[in-house]
Amino acid sequence: MNPDELVRIGEVNREEVVKGIYKPEPDESGLGIIAHYKKLEKPVNLNHWGEAGTESRIKSWKPALDNGGAMYGAFEGDTFAGFIILGPPQNDASAEVVALFIDRDFRYQGVGSKLMQWAEVKCKEMNVKAMYVYSNPTVSSANFYMKSGFQISGLVSKHIVKSLPGDLVLAKKI
Ligand SMILES: CC(C)(COP(=O)(O)OP(=O)(O)OC[C@H]1O[C@@H](n2cnc3c(N)ncnc32)[C@H](O)[C@@H]1OP(=O)(O)O)[C@@H](O)C(=O)NCCC(=O)NCCS
Repeated sequence: MNPDELVRIGEVNREEVVKGIYKPEPDESGLGIIAHYKKLEKPVNLNHWGEAGTESRIKSWKPALDNGGAMYGAFEGDTFAGFIILGPPQNDASAEVVALFIDRDFRYQGVGSKLMQWAEVKCKEMNVKAMYVYSNPTVSSANFYMKSGFQISGLVSKHIVKSLPGDLVLAKKI
């Protein structure tokens, strides 16, 4: 997609009912962090972003496109069903999956996998050797990345500081 089309991301409905998460916590040795699967007693509703939420995401993701990244969209007719944003190549020949969102009505139909394949093709064109992502801790997101060949390469525990960036860092050699 053209970088100007980033403004359309609000058309993709991000709503999700989260039933489980992977919660990174210190392990018993005191030397490491492990991710525990946690079934949420009460499922959490993640709402659509709304206008302000969409604006702030456009602002934070735009630099990735301005600096040599790429955005791919999935469409059914005129309906915008999902998108992936790939960051620019880094000095170590890696690139970040900056965002990946499939509209709630188009999930579990292979759309996310298709977008990921396109992002991988782009990575190969750019000589990128590894992709990485700061994933949501939701089971849907983490399982999706693991099914796509990513491996956990870092866990961030928020047991003391909630605002630390990311929860699960996943990466894939390509
Ligand atoms: C995560 C997300 C991108 C997956 O996209 P999708 O188009 O639904 O994924 P696919 O249909 O290509 O699924 C591929 C695999 O991912 C896994 N997966 C996808 N959704 C899943 C879910 N809700 N729970 C568990 N595993 C899931 C499955 O293993 C699936 O393979 P299978 O169909 O053989 O079982 C999509 O659910 C989404 O947009 N979620 C909300 C936003 C989000 O969390 N984005 C990631 C930000 S870091």
